[in-house]
Amino acid sequence: MNLNLDVALIGDVDLFHVIAIFRCRPWKPSDLERVILASPYTTTPPQNLPIMTLDPPTIGTTTTVHAKLSYIDCTKEFNSPGHMFLARGSLYIARRSTIMSSANKPPTQSMPSIGLGTFKLKGEAVQQVLRDAIRIGYRHIDTATIYRNEKDIGDVLQETYSDPSNTLTRSDFWITSKLSPYDMRKPRESLMQTLRSLQTEYLDLYLIHWPAVARKAASSPEHKRLRLEAWKVLNEAKREGLLRNIGVSNFTPQHIQELIDETEYGIQGVFVQMETHPWYWRDAFEIQNRFQEHEVRIVGYALLAEGRLVGENCPKFLDEVSKRRGLSVVQVVLAWALSKNWGVLVRSEREEHLRDNLEATRLVDVLTPEDIALIESISTSEKEEKLCWDPRFVK
Ligand SMILES: NC(=O)c1ccc[n+]([C@@H]2O[C@H](COP(=O)([O-])OP(=O)(O)OC[C@H]3O[C@@H](n4cnc5c(N)ncnc54)[C@H](OP(=O)(O)O)[C@@H]3O)[C@@H](O)[C@H]2O)c1
Repeated sequence: MNLNLDVALIGDVDLFHVIAIFRCRPWKPSDLERVILASPYTTTPPQNLPIMTLDPPTIGTTTTVHAKLSYIDCTKEFNSPGHMFLARGSLYIARRSTIMSSANKPPTQSMPSIGLGTFKLKGEAVQQVLRDAIRIGYRHIDTATIYRNEKDIGDVLQETYSDPSNTLTRSDFWITSKLSPYDMRKPRESLMQTLRSLQTEYLDLYLIHWPAVARKAASSPEHKRLRLEAWKVLNEAKREGLLRNIGVSNFTPQHIQELIDETEYGIQGVFVQMETHPWYWRDAFEIQNRFQEHEVRIVGYALLAEGRLVGENCPKFLDEVSKRRGLSVVQVVLAWALSKNWGVLVRSEREEHLRDNLEATRLVDVLTPEDIALIESISTSEKEEKLCWDPRFVK
């Protein structure tokens, strides 16, 4: 990564105060999230990390940073390009995707746009699919505590890391898991169990699976209290480095708005995983637009409506686009979702389907605006068909 920085520190630079002026280019302003100020002189482990959040500066302008450092360390993290040692301090500017919350964590990676779905797959079935998928090139795995397959997946990942025929390590994979609605009263404990089952020190993404606690009426005020508490736990675990990214799943725009209005954490850069397919996609679009300034990222699930979009129920327009472009119906659906900048999850137990689905990442530009309009006319705002669990009733 070539950060190509223009950095200058001015004023007093000592272990406890740094006054810096920096100019950055050539990134987009939104690429810059935080500035970490540190000094090479201390070796004590981090306690209060000297991390500051800034408004991204506009290219070419100069931003002044005033920071009070309560702890300073740079022994490991500053091996990466983009840091600068100065007389008695150092200024490290991290791109959004490489931000670390403490000195000893490796850089995060960005999410591969297609993820392997593992719902309904357990034991030997999930293990065989995962081995095939990894061999074919999948690097993004979606699981959840309620799928009861985290340990099976963890075992295959361990087997993969120790296989001398490849060079894959933990950092080559993006692993998502989710807090079970049954565990909403013990989110931290549940997360720690997930980490143990998946045999990993961190998750790339952890989501609140569902905005409600299991076995309570949808109208109960418990749901809101527990999901706001869980949001706090996820944010704290992210700060600790156990989670690289956090998010929610099956939240309505209103549930998401509460995270902004009623927590100190907000939703900057979070992921929202939700049902999305040509029969039901406008809610994803609304969330993407409404929370655009928070850079919320959508990940669609059940893109094939659990298989119902393929075969005899396939809508006429989809079939038409598929024939016109010489792509399979599934590739058309995936390419359509990817064209909206959504991540997609898809599950298959068949190797040829796994290959076809992964291929969709290269087909996004094949669809024309007319194709996209045709796909989107399969449903109307008055007549959408949601197939999976519906959170709109959850208080
Ligand atoms: N957050 C949530 O609440 C939530 C809810 C549901 C799902 N998810 C996640 O999203 C993932 C995907 O959703 P899903 O599993 O419900 O369903 P899906 O991916 O929409 O559909 C899976 C079905 O599509 C078929 N299929 C896959 N690729 C195909 C292809 N190229 N051609 C023809 N058929 C194909 C599969 O059959 P074959 O095996 O024969 O290929 C399977 O029956 C889940 O596994 C899970 O990880 C999350």
